[in-house]
Amino acid sequence: MKLTSEQLRNKWMKFFSDRGHTPISSASLIPENDPTVLFTTAGMHPLVPYLLGQPHPCGKRLCDTQKCVRTGDIDEVGDATHCTFFEMLGNWSLGDYFKDEMVPWSYEFLTKELGLDSDRLAVTVFEGDSDCPRDTKTAALWEKCGIKKENIFYLGKKHNWWGPAGQTGPCGSDTEMFVDTGKPKCSPECSPACDCGKYVEIWNDVFMEFNKNADGSFSPLKQKNVDTGMGFERALMNVNGLKSVYDTDVFMPIVDKIKELSGTGADNAAEETLRAVRVVADHIRTSTFIIGDERGVTPSNVDQGYILRRLLRRAIRFGATIGLKPGDYSAVANTVVDIYKDVYPELAAAREKIKTEIDEEQARFERTLENGIKEFEKLCKYVQGDTIPGKSAFRLYDTYGFPLEMTVEMARERGFKVDIDGFNKRFEEHRNLSHAGAEQRFKGGLADTGELTARLHTATHLMHKALKDVLNDPNVNQRGSNITPERLRFDFSFGRAMTPEEVKAVEDKVNEAIAANAEITCEEMTVEDAKAAGAVGLFASKYGEKVKVYTMGKFSKEICGGPHAARTGELGHFRIVKEQSSSAGVRRIKAVLE
Ligand code: SER
Repeated sequence: MKLTSEQLRNKWMKFFSDRGHTPISSASLIPENDPTVLFTTAGMHPLVPYLLGQPHPCGKRLCDTQKCVRTGDIDEVGDATHCTFFEMLGNWSLGDYFKDEMVPWSYEFLTKELGLDSDRLAVTVFEGDSDCPRDTKTAALWEKCGIKKENIFYLGKKHNWWGPAGQTGPCGSDTEMFVDTGKPKCSPECSPACDCGKYVEIWNDVFMEFNKNADGSFSPLKQKNVDTGMGFERALMNVNGLKSVYDTDVFMPIVDKIKELSGTGADNAAEETLRAVRVVADHIRTSTFIIGDERGVTPSNVDQGYILRRLLRRAIRFGATIGLKPGDYSAVANTVVDIYKDVYPELAAAREKIKTEIDEEQARFERTLENGIKEFEKLCKYVQGDTIPGKSAFRLYDTYGFPLEMTVEMARERGFKVDIDGFNKRFEEHRNLSHAGAEQRFKGGLADTGELTARLHTATHLMHKALKDVLNDPNVNQRGSNITPERLRFDFSFGRAMTPEEVKAVEDKVNEAIAANAEITCEEMTVEDAKAAGAVGLFASKYGEKVKVYTMGKFSKEICGGPHAARTGELGHFRIVKEQSSSAGVRRIKAVLE
């Protein structure tokens, strides 16, 4: 190993600190107050308000390593490079430097710090269209640095445009950097746009200078930003000349543990065995980070909890094919915690919880499987002809977590076929429905820092404090928050249903704070000072960076990124619409301003 994971993280932080960037801690994997996405998917995601022009308490130059989850490529997991969890190394200019600085820095980091051969680097730049001109400037900068002209490729929006993360928000053209693996070109037109495997992406610099509006048009942002992201696991793989991300030091101990528990010699194992080992490694790593997050969630049938459930069940399904047993999955998770405990201490703090949740989900899945098998037996009795209808196969998938290939296999044993087209049709319909749902959610807009959401956000703070006062229980704490322009939704730890009197008392307290028309002020300070000043809020600071503290008269003091109303009087009238259970020990409130 030429560079360990620890060395690579440190090199990144040092390189950018030396160039005036403040290191900031990774944000939670569960975005706060953002109804548009389930997980943090990129380093820029928690920084959207600052890319739009709000001043960041740590200044205009930032760098970090951010925990990210993306499940879009879940079917690809098991190949050399796709993961559902990854770390993203990132640096930002918030209206400060632009292309002239970023391109030479990228070149310097890749060639000097990572030791990559300049002649083996290829880059892409934006070819230009009616929204944004051809980026000859960036191409010229690359050439001046020493990138060979034939290794600079102009590509269109499909390849060289990044964002917005939702339907609206900050975005811009980008320049991507690739390592040429040395494989011959698959055709004379072969370029980094081609997925033949000759070029492997290593870094992306986005020149974020536009906001995409709801009508699809682009308008210039208040400030020109740089947003860069380097996929950590892939960078480790490239720098060390390894064949897959699973051979890097963040994955090897996990893979070894799975081999040990399953007795699989994955080195010379059949392809499907190798794939199963990798799927388990990837999915258990992601699940460990989701459960062990500072805003960790547990398996359920909604939102993040549902993704977690699917990841765990998929890991168990694949694990069963290589002989993993109940209890093995949480043992693998324990290895994940050991690897990351120094970089992400929240995992060590949640070690027991991670074990319990994984073991319990494993047991639940086993019970569902039994019911599913019973359902399948019934189906076989009543099916007409020799084909199991697509809708039945989909029901087994949807309700009992049966993958299609499992249903097909069981059917084959009994001399039945499965209507796969019918299954796929249902599957697509379901997918479109969830897309429709997702699109609804996007309407709130990742960049929706509008007045309505700001007011509801302020109401959330007031309610949080009112809940603490009324319920008078030190365990009452925020567990999740989600705001759309119509309502706020707030999850908090508390062991029982609230009484109607308590609900009313919380409403009264919030309305009292609104009636007082208190001024809302924001100060910047270190996390330690914020805690000393009595501010509530979750913030694991590794670097002693500054945070914003919002004070609402005598009613509330919280660590928070904002934005908020200027005075509490803007909020109108506060009403709790619903108080219900969210999961064990967690209550959920929906409330509106009217
Ligand atoms: N936002 C860009 C990406 O995700 C660069 O950080 O690739």
